Amino acid sequence: MKKPLLSLLLPAISLLIFSGTTFAQTTMNMAIREGGGPAISRNIYGHFSEHLGRCIYDGFWTGDKIRMDVVDALKKIKIPVLRWPGGCYADQYHWRDAIGPRGQRKKTVNTTWGMVSEDNSFGTHEFIGLCRLIGSDPYLAGNVGSGSPRELRDWIEYCNMPSGSTLAEERIKNGVAEPFRVRYWGVGNENWGCGGWMRPEVYANLYRQFSVYLREYGGTKPFLVASGPNGNDRKWTRGFMDTLEGGVPGGLSMHYYENGPDRATEFSADHVDQQLSIFKRVEEAVMEQRALLDSYREGNKVGLILDEWGVWDKIPPEDEKRYGKLWMQSTMRSAVAAGLGLNIFNRQADKLFMCNIAQIVNVLQSLLLTDGPEGKSCIRTTTYHAFALFKPHRSKTAVRVETQDSSPLGISVSASKAENELVITFVNPRHDADVEIDCLIQGSTAREAKAQILHDADWNACNTFENPNRVLVQTHPVAVEGSRLKMDLPQLSVATVTLKTA
Ligand code: AHR
Repeated sequence: MKKPLLSLLLPAISLLIFSGTTFAQTTMNMAIREGGGPAISRNIYGHFSEHLGRCIYDGFWTGDKIRMDVVDALKKIKIPVLRWPGGCYADQYHWRDAIGPRGQRKKTVNTTWGMVSEDNSFGTHEFIGLCRLIGSDPYLAGNVGSGSPRELRDWIEYCNMPSGSTLAEERIKNGVAEPFRVRYWGVGNENWGCGGWMRPEVYANLYRQFSVYLREYGGTKPFLVASGPNGNDRKWTRGFMDTLEGGVPGGLSMHYYENGPDRATEFSADHVDQQLSIFKRVEEAVMEQRALLDSYREGNKVGLILDEWGVWDKIPPEDEKRYGKLWMQSTMRSAVAAGLGLNIFNRQADKLFMCNIAQIVNVLQSLLLTDGPEGKSCIRTTTYHAFALFKPHRSKTAVRVETQDSSPLGISVSASKAENELVITFVNPRHDADVEIDCLIQGSTAREAKAQILHDADWNACNTFENPNRVLVQTHPVAVEGSRLKMDLPQLSVATVTLKTA
């Protein structure tokens, strides 16, 4: 039996985990301490969709209806919140172009993504309809860059005013009597870049102006999300908050992509390490941006939102030509990346209000890939399966985790609990080291443990239209002896252990 490096007197449930690798011998100690942690908001498992490539058309919408194979898959994974219509597209979007009888809608050009023709057959009603089908809260991103306070105000009124105004009557005439009750509203997107290329002070002044008119209709108070920093850009956040001088938004939207230099299915070992190491900086960014917001009067009222995140690999033109703009495969490496991200969000649950991975179908690190008409092909990517492994954490209380190995490619862990259930997710980001987990549960006895794992030794392995089940969640052996839990954690794996505790 390996000896713990650290002996800790811990209250109630605590875990000491010792592990050794089959390659270089490293020892890791971990203490998971109980003690009134924050609730894990379901919104940190949120998603994002944009009029980009084949996300909306062919993804959600084929012919003149919502794809039910996509709906079925999304219902199973339970999408808490879905952001739309952009992204960069939000700041060119005019919502009125996409309401009313479908054949009569305005034909526009998607000048943001490829100058393609947009028939606006998927608009506000269709999006809300999709959200209702999959049980997700809608999050509408408004246009600041090329829009006006009036346009955004009218959109809110159209959606949320129950009746008694021309806009509410128009919604009713368009077939929906009940207000949509949309709570989350983005006030622009990336206004430091595609959303108007503004300086933070300029955007903050616009935010102040817009926010005056974005009101509560029919009892639905809008939760306004201001455009936040690119990565850990403190200058943007400071410039915005300094200029705001009061009237803080509900949320601040930070975007942090983890770029990769290779095509998704052709990563070199070095580039796997390079990309997965970025997550350490993501966690630092979350902590630093949170601290920065908290340093302002009322800054602690602003929810930090990681509004766009995920791996963004090299996308060869031939892939875009064949499958659509920003189309990317999701591999075992991508699933590990998703696991690293979601573990951070669980660990930093008190600092994050919402997180939305980019994007949900057929674009970037998507959960689903579709090919052809409804029912022909809708495959679940490795990232979909990684998200499935985190479902048991939702609405549990985060448990503080301390590990000795905090290096970028150290074993990543998060844990949560509710009553007699303790859930732990381990991610092994190393492609060259299997790990034996040896875990002592202090203060509680495990009655039974179940483990599920997503693993493939080939980091480029993925689910394809020809072989949709190559990488799947499997049950995994885990042993509990009294207070001790033992499990092998192979290279490149995401594993969730659910423990019934006494
Ligand atoms: O997700 C693709 C694009 O990335 C979004 O439109 C934009 O917000 C970000 O730069």
